[in-house]
Amino acid sequence: MSTREVVTATAVAHPNIALVKYWGKRDGPLNLPAVPSLSLTLDGYHTTTTVGPADADEVWLNGARTDDAKVRRVLDLLAPGRPPLRVVTANDFPTGAGLASSASGFAALVVAADAALGTALPREALSVLARRGSGSACRSLWGGLVEWRLGVRVDGADSHGVPVGVDWDLRLLVAVVSDAKKAVGSTEGMERSRATSPLYAAWVANGPRDVADGLAAVRARDLPALGAVMERSTFAMHGTMSSSTPPLLYWQPATVALLHEVFALRARGVPCWATMDAGPQVKVLCAPEHAEGVEAALRPLALRVDVHRPGGGAHVSSPS
Ligand code: DP6
Repeated sequence: MSTREVVTATAVAHPNIALVKYWGKRDGPLNLPAVPSLSLTLDGYHTTTTVGPADADEVWLNGARTDDAKVRRVLDLLAPGRPPLRVVTANDFPTGAGLASSASGFAALVVAADAALGTALPREALSVLARRGSGSACRSLWGGLVEWRLGVRVDGADSHGVPVGVDWDLRLLVAVVSDAKKAVGSTEGMERSRATSPLYAAWVANGPRDVADGLAAVRARDLPALGAVMERSTFAMHGTMSSSTPPLLYWQPATVALLHEVFALRARGVPCWATMDAGPQVKVLCAPEHAEGVEAALRPLALRVDVHRPGGGAHVSSPS
C-alpha cells in the first residue's frame, strides 16, 4: 500500500434478490459458488457505509461495535498493509433476516474503502472482493439484473457479477413475515446442505440450465418464463435445504400462507411469482401494473409489504 493519505468516504448499496439462486460453494475460503446465479438489485432498501482513518480497526454495525473478522479480511485483501480504519455501517431494513443485508453490506464496504484508500480498482475487482465477504454481495455492485458467473480460474478472479444489460421495469414485493435474525446463517446452511443433502448433487447439476433459461427469459422480456424459472430454482433450493440433516426449514406458517396466496392469485389470472431465501420472507415478482393488486392481496398475511423497483449499483455518496 502506498503512503497515500486515507480520506473518509461514504458509499450506498442496495441488497439484491436472486431470481436464480446461489446455494453451495465449490471453494469455501475463496467463496466460489457451486452454481451460477441471476439477481435483481432492489431500490427500496439501503446500506450506508463510511470508511475513514482510525488509531485501530473499528467496525460499527447499526450503532453497535462489532468485531467482524470478514470485514477486516476484505479490507486486508483490498489493500495489503493498509492503515487502521473505522467502518461505520447501517441498514434501513432488518439485518440478517433473509433480506440480503450481507450483500448490500459488503458491496457498500468495498466501494467506500476503495474511495477512502484511493485504490481505484475496476468494478469487477471490487465485485470479486465483495464476494470474499459474502457471495451474493458480488451482484450488488451493479443495478438491475445481474448474473454471477461461476468462472474457471482457480484464484476466483473471474467469478464476479456481470450486468445483464437488459433494462426491465419489474416490481419485486417483499412480504415481511418476521424481522428476527435467522437461526442458521447462509454460510453454515450451505455447508450443511453440501455435506448432508441427498439432493445437493442434482441441485448443483441444474444450476447452469436454470441461469441459461433465466437469461433467455430476460432477453425475451418473457415474465411468465422468468417467473417459472425463479420458482423452479427457489423450490429446488428449499428442497435441498429441507433435505439437509438437521433440516434447514426457514419457512414460518405465514410463509406458506403467502405462497398459497401467490398461487391463488395466479389461478385467478394475476401474473405473479414467488421466491424465498434463507429466511421466512416471501418475495413476489410481477409487472408494474399488477403491483398494487398483488400488494393488497399479500398485506393481510404479512407484517408489511415493501414494493421495490430495480435499484442502482453500489456507489460513492460522499468522499471528503
Ligand atoms: C439464499 O451470499 O449470504 O440468499 O456467500 O456464505 O455469505 P455467503 O452466503 P450469502 O448467500 C445467499 C443465499 C441466498 C440465495 C442468493 O442470494 O442467491
